[in-house]
Amino acid sequence: MAARLSFPALCVTALAALLTISAPASAQQSLCADCHFANAGGPNPIHLHEWDLSAHGRAGVGCEACHGGNPRTVESFLAHQMIVRGHGLENPVNRRNLPATCGKCHSGPYTEFQSSRHYLLLRNGDPAAPSCSTCHGDVAAYLLSPKGLESECNGCHGRGKKQERAEYAANARYLLQATRDTRALLDSARSLIKRVTDPKMRESLQYDYEQAAVPLQEAAHAGHSFVFDKVEERLGVAMARAEALADRLANLSVRTPSR
Ligand code: HEC
Ligand code: HEC
Ligand code: HEC
Ligand code: HEC
Ligand code: HEC
Repeated sequence: MAARLSFPALCVTALAALLTISAPASAQQSLCADCHFANAGGPNPIHLHEWDLSAHGRAGVGCEACHGGNPRTVESFLAHQMIVRGHGLENPVNRRNLPATCGKCHSGPYTEFQSSRHYLLLRNGDPAAPSCSTCHGDVAAYLLSPKGLESECNGCHGRGKKQERAEYAANARYLLQATRDTRALLDSARSLIKRVTDPKMRESLQYDYEQAAVPLQEAAHAGHSFVFDKVEERLGVAMARAEALADRLANLSVRTPSR
């Protein structure tokens, strides 16, 4: 006590230095990955690499988001204390639990997935049913191409398979292609809108953009029920609005040069 009182300046400086060092590792920061990357011989190095390159890694979704554990300690024992080991049913990353684990953050896909036959089978422990990781990887957050999606469906529903229904795959590919085309149209509309100088006009175009972007995302989410009526309906609305917006923008750019 006496020592602390006689060196107040030193204490304050030391404290300040400590605070600066620990500032990046602030309340929300996850320390799990730091230690795993430092342990070259640690488990599952490919998984680490996939996380690093993924939308999850970029968005700062830490290891604890799926595995649990305490991300604010560098003590291995404390960090892992609450982590379920092994591949059992209590493990949040067991493929059967992934819909709920991923669904904490992705409620749109999760809600739709829950209405599917796939979900029912998965919950009943059927190893033939797909889970979130079947199409998105364990951590990588892959987004399949239309062709990739078709081949994924065909892996279970293709010719000669037990669950043969090849029309599912063809339909899924067609709808995903249309989703992508509409998204591409909206992406180019967005970059044009940014260049519109009149603020009132820009705001009005931005409004139309959102009126198309929302049903487009609803279509992507609805796909997770694997019954495509709602996808078709939402996609139809999104496409019509995206095309109307593109027309508006085309008329605008025809007028601008003759100013
Ligand atoms: C101090 C370093 C360190 C920290 C911090 C750390 N880990 Fe680990 N982790 C390891 C090492 C080394 C292993 C392999 C040895 C073992 O299983 O204990 C491991 C194992 C694991 C495993 C495999 C467990 C199994 O048996 O299936 C998972 C999952 C895991 N860590 C996740 C995490 C998460 C999530 C966090 C943060 C909440 C975290 N780790 C924090 C070093 C660390
Ligand atoms: C988006 C969810 C998610 C995130 C984030 C995530 N993982 Fe995983 N992890 C999984 C899934 C799913 C598996 C596969 C589990 C299985 O097949 O049993 C897995 C498997 C593992 C395994 C192998 C476990 C075993 O017992 O074989 C380790 C180790 C691991 N992850 C560590 C990490 C570390 C370290 C991080 C952070 C850099 C991390 N994970 C981030 C979902 C995630
Ligand atoms: C803690 C919240 C959280 C959890 C849990 C989580 N994610 Fe994510 N996920 C995110 C965030 C944040 C992004 C980045 C969003 C963005 O870039 O707009 C993302 C992005 C994605 C994307 C889109 C990638 C893209 O390029 O648009 C997919 C697919 C995805 N996650 C699947 C999963 C799957 C599958 C799981 C479970 C294994 C999972 N996520 C668990 C938060 C989470
Ligand atoms: C049979 C394949 C398949 C399964 C299983 C699957 N998804 Fe998807 N997911 C897709 C496709 C296809 C898209 C649309 C990709 C695109 O728009 O480019 C998508 C899109 C997403 C997105 C991005 C949505 C957005 O807002 O743009 C997220 C997040 C996601 N899925 C999470 C999940 C979760 C969580 C699960 C498990 C409950 C799951 N997915 C199961 C195929 C699948
Ligand atoms: C990992 C394997 C697997 C994948 C991948 C998969 N399915 Fe399935 N699917 C099944 C199984 C198993 C059933 C149950 C079939 C049954 O009960 O007759 C099923 C059932 C269905 C059903 C309900 C069938 C019915 O008649 O009630 C639809 C629709 C469906 N799948 C569409 C798709 C589509 C579309 C894709 C790709 C986007 C896909 N599935 C990918 C395994 C899979």
